[in-house]
Amino acid sequence: MGNKMVMISFVVVGSLLMAAMADVDLSRDLEITWGDGRARMVGNNNNDNDGHILKLSLDRDSGSGFRSRNQYLFGKIDVQIKLVPGNSAGTVTAYYLSSLGLTHDEIDFEFLGNLSGEPYIVHTNIYSQGKGDREQQFYLWFDPTKNFHTYSILWNPHNIILYVDGTPIRVFKNMESRRIPYPKSQAMRVYSSIWNADQWATRGGAVKTDWTQAPFVASYRNFNALHACISTNSSSSSSSCSSHQQQPWMKHSLNASGEAMINWVQKNFMIYNYCTDTQRFPRGFPPECSSP
Ligand SMILES: *[C@@H]1O[C@H](CO)[C@@H](O)[C@H](O)[C@H]1NC(C)=O
Ligand SMILES: *[C@@H]1O[C@H](CO)[C@@H](O)[C@H](O)[C@H]1NC(C)=O
Repeated sequence: MGNKMVMISFVVVGSLLMAAMADVDLSRDLEITWGDGRARMVGNNNNDNDGHILKLSLDRDSGSGFRSRNQYLFGKIDVQIKLVPGNSAGTVTAYYLSSLGLTHDEIDFEFLGNLSGEPYIVHTNIYSQGKGDREQQFYLWFDPTKNFHTYSILWNPHNIILYVDGTPIRVFKNMESRRIPYPKSQAMRVYSSIWNADQWATRGGAVKTDWTQAPFVASYRNFNALHACISTNSSSSSSSCSSHQQQPWMKHSLNASGEAMINWVQKNFMIYNYCTDTQRFPRGFPPECSSP
């Protein structure tokens, strides 16, 4: 009997936790910053007043965007996104972490739209102290417009890892010992926006946005920054984590199976890597491209 009770309470607690996750009102963590009504927090179908889902939309006049209320200094931050369905050619949906200023740090996911049925490109970049130019691009192994999928950024003092549905697609290691700047002292906010980039986004700009399909809408849910250190001061290292440095994610780096997953993604889905672009770097690749 005892066992059954325990089982049942596990199930109940489990579903309560799930419900709590899905119940998170996005307005607790996120604020709409621009778009003049084109960005909206809406409820699930059965409850239209809560803010479970955030929708960003783009039409001929404007895009829209949101940002996190908090700034973070290190963290593991997840969000689920359903990208613009149908003909999204020419549109870019960006989701990124960024600090402010000329020597800012930034960790980017940008989703480049495409014609119906043609593959999105996930464009990634990492800036440290104002210097980016570290693009890698990927196709996905699923249609990102059919369902919500989880996009995560793990950022700790050792490395930055980008994940799609828990699969690591890119890692940027702390190589300060080789004098390569690493983001570690500027707090960053989460930002997301949708805009028109038909000068370059789809097949290098060859396919333009079809405005008869507007508005273009991307949807977000389950933003989770519970494992992130909230920073109260953008220029100092004071954050909510100073007392609990022991958090496992603060030390996380890829083990052998994580490395194998990255290799699988890079072999099968990577379509651009700045570290192999000889036309762009005829006189040698940036230092972080070579192993020590
Ligand atoms: C769009 O589809 C074309 C044709 O399949 C492909 O070459 C391109 O990489 C896709 N993605 C973007 C964003 O252009
Ligand atoms: C590698 O790390 C993942 C989590 O990222 C973990 O689930 C897995 O058990 C680890 N594998 C080994 C062999 O340690």
